[in-house]
Amino acid sequence: MEVDPVAFKEAARAAWERSAAGWDAHTPAVHRWLAAATETMLDLAAVGPGSRVLDVAAGAGDQTLAIARRVGPTGRVLANDLSPALLALARSRCRKAGFDGVETMAGDAESLRVEPESFDVAVCRLGLMLFPRPVHALRAMRQALVAGGRSCSLVFGRPDRNPCVAVLMKTAVAHAGVPMPDPGRPGGLFSLGIPGALERIHEEAGFREIAVSVVDAPFELPSAGHYIDFIRSSASPIQQILASLDAGRQQAAWDDMRERLEIFRDGDRWVGPNELLRVSARR
Ligand SMILES: C[S@@+](CC[C@H](N)C(=O)[O-])C[C@H]1O[C@@H](n2cnc3c(N)ncnc32)[C@H](O)[C@@H]1O
Repeated sequence: MEVDPVAFKEAARAAWERSAAGWDAHTPAVHRWLAAATETMLDLAAVGPGSRVLDVAAGAGDQTLAIARRVGPTGRVLANDLSPALLALARSRCRKAGFDGVETMAGDAESLRVEPESFDVAVCRLGLMLFPRPVHALRAMRQALVAGGRSCSLVFGRPDRNPCVAVLMKTAVAHAGVPMPDPGRPGGLFSLGIPGALERIHEEAGFREIAVSVVDAPFELPSAGHYIDFIRSSASPIQQILASLDAGRQQAAWDDMRERLEIFRDGDRWVGPNELLRVSARR
């Protein structure tokens, strides 16, 4: 399916700018959700003291801080994101933790301009699948790496392994009376969950030693309501689907989604099944 990448990214930038404060407020929950997956991503990329790391689509900087901690005072961290508001929050998160040296660069990852061969590692946590032309971003990441440099990214896996998103989508389109979007559409949450997609784009970008593995990352929260709050605070496609409804009908849709998500209640906690894919590669 064709998308206009310029218009798509402008809409994404505006949506993330609007959601920046809400996404930032959910950082502790995102941190708990992705802590183990993030550490493995950084292990596989061999991030350690002195590493120079490019963090693509860094958002509010949760993984940026983890990288800064690992690389220490002799390393370098450059965080990129489409949203300047999110990057300002990432910078402030790192400064508050004592990492004043973390650099930021606002802009589109698909046309990243950094000095060639100036990084040992490039990572991208839950960003790559949101780019309409991810191979462009991977080429830019590869170009930023020294020979033998490593890249590691996390993306959403198959839709059937991420049933909470399916519940949200199905319920939202039913309320809005619109067709279900194609799960594999470029820039969609599941665009790189299709078997073979990550290998193909990494090969196309010129990477070698490409390895993809499945990561089980259940999202544990106190309740389905907390999950709905998280989704409402992020730049998710659900808001777009519901945009044509008035406030009352939107609220009814959110209430319906929350009720349906109760199937994932487990005693006094709520655990949303979630499967990610991790891809590591070398220049
Ligand atoms: C799901 S959030 C992940 C943020 C962060 N990496 C994390 O895991 O907490 C996706 C991020 O991708 C960024 N993004 C989307 N499209 C982008 C693009 N074309 N270039 C750079 N960043 C982009 C958004 O602004 C947002 O911060």
